Amino acid sequence: MSRLDIRIYGDDVLRKKAEPIKQITPELVDLAREMLQAMYDAPGIGLAAPQVGVPIRLIVVDVAKEDETPEPRIYFNPEIAPEEEGENPLIPYEEGCLSVPDVYGDVMRPDRIRLKAQNEKGEWIEERNVCGLLSRCIQHEVDHLEGKLFVDLISAEDKAKNQAALRKLAADQKKK
Ligand code: NI
Repeated sequence: MSRLDIRIYGDDVLRKKAEPIKQITPELVDLAREMLQAMYDAPGIGLAAPQVGVPIRLIVVDVAKEDETPEPRIYFNPEIAPEEEGENPLIPYEEGCLSVPDVYGDVMRPDRIRLKAQNEKGEWIEERNVCGLLSRCIQHEVDHLEGKLFVDLISAEDKAKNQAALRKLAADQKKK
């Protein structure tokens, strides 16, 4: 089990803009590996450092299915943009978040993105035409680095549906 605690909706750290990482140290690589473990334990398919109380620009992702070989991905200082070539409309997809338990709602996002980030060795990598669930997950995690949560992006209807649950989560945080 991971010793990291996943922070829940209402915790201020989830609303902070995360700081760029100047140097990728062995300690930060260890943190990324622990985040992956916390994510697998949860279980989830993505986690951003602010979700474990560390407001720095680091995300981890693994969208492999349960019966597939794990594909852990660690991205330091990720930067994303919608892929420009060809049609790339916004499409709806139901999202959830380990920091917002039991709340789900459709979010509109472009299907395809390009991604730049640093790997564990500090090298910049670039991935083009990232699509599907991986693209969706990376976009969701990068939002966390801006202090943004998927519930900010859901429809008014979904917001209304989940309002009581969100209030309760936030109220429980205040009691801590
Ligand atoms: Ni999330």
